[in-house]
Amino acid sequence: MPAIKILVGTVYGGARDVADHIQPMLEAKGFTVEVSEEPSIADLENKELDAILISCSTTGAGDFPPNFDKFYHTLHEQGAALSHLKYGIISLGDSSYDETFCDAGKKMDAVLAEYGGQRVGRPLEVDAAEHFDATEPAGDWIGRWADQLLQAEIA
Ligand SMILES: Cc1cc2nc3c(=O)[nH]c(=O)nc-3n(C[C@H](O)[C@H](O)[C@H](O)COP(=O)(O)O)c2cc1C
Repeated sequence: MPAIKILVGTVYGGARDVADHIQPMLEAKGFTVEVSEEPSIADLENKELDAILISCSTTGAGDFPPNFDKFYHTLHEQGAALSHLKYGIISLGDSSYDETFCDAGKKMDAVLAEYGGQRVGRPLEVDAAEHFDATEPAGDWIGRWADQLLQAEIA
């Protein structure tokens, strides 16, 4: 069974709620799914995993949640061998933060691509000004993302 690990970066729990909501949806499609709020570069380099899905909010002024901060900065500074990696991005933000809207997800996407990762599908950006509950747009998005991942696995 294809294996996915969801790495959650959150301050108030919204990105965790998203992960918990989509986990059974992915399992129903035949994936095994693990959710973690302790991301590591070893997760990214783990070739036993078929994909990493990032579910991460933005805090401060375009900053990472505390549980993602060291992970991102270590990856940014030291790099990793990610040419095997397929990943997806779910980014939680608020458009009232204008210039830093969903910056953490954008930075994560950029650094994973920089070190060779291949993004599956387009990133999902959930705007808190539009969606009180981020699980709703994430639930709409995840089915197509899973199908795109399966297609990428076959190709
Ligand atoms: C203090 C604070 C700072 C924030 N800064 C940003 C920001 O710079 N950019 C953005 O897009 N959203 C920002 N947000 C909005 C959050 O990312 C958004 O509410 C998100 O849904 C929170 O997800 P979480 O519950 O997983 O932490 C901020 C929210 C707070 C409370």
